[in-house]
Amino acid sequence: MSGHSQYDNSHSHTATKAIAIVGLNLALSYENAAIDRLEKRLSESIVPEVKEKIKRHLDQTKQQQERLKERIRALGGGMEPISEKGQLPIPQPPQKLKMMIESNSSDKEREVWESLNDLIIERAEAIMYKGGIQALELLKADKKTIKALEKNLKEEEAFGDWLERNNPKIAKRLMSKQAQDKKRKGKTKEEKKNEQEAISATAA
Ligand SMILES: [Fe+2]
Repeated sequence: MSGHSQYDNSHSHTATKAIAIVGLNLALSYENAAIDRLEKRLSESIVPEVKEKIKRHLDQTKQQQERLKERIRALGGGMEPISEKGQLPIPQPPQKLKMMIESNSSDKEREVWESLNDLIIERAEAIMYKGGIQALELLKADKKTIKALEKNLKEEEAFGDWLERNNPKIAKRLMSKQAQDKKRKGKTKEEKKNEQEAISATAA
């Protein structure tokens, strides 16, 4: 009887480990994709303080990858940390709208658009880690692995909170700057028209 129960324990322990390792690799695959996205945003963003925050979070994300890799290796099971990239949860508009957005929007509008995607990604990562932590607790996984996910979760929440707080302010600033630029351009056109009219009047 006792032998049977021992078998059950070790079997469930192995199964638990396998699930945990798959989950950690899944999180790692999203962080692998997040690195690409953050690097792209770092090179394209037109807002200095956003660039600075993205650079910081890029460094954090590299540490998150290392934390996950370390736990995957520590749990053993022979599965190497994954190097493939998962699909980030960025909403995909219908093709027609996507083309309209991409062809008609200014760099400032694009920045506002992408800053929303930044926020969606960080919130999704936080949700993923919360679910992962809960799953590991239910599976009675080791404390170190749970701690690693908690550390990652904290960083996602902090960056997500910053974006949620600052995106509206930054969007407002970008849009009023754009309105000013447009006004100035409009004026110049009007001035040119007046000038031309003045010239024609003189000629007549
Ligand atoms: Fe993140």
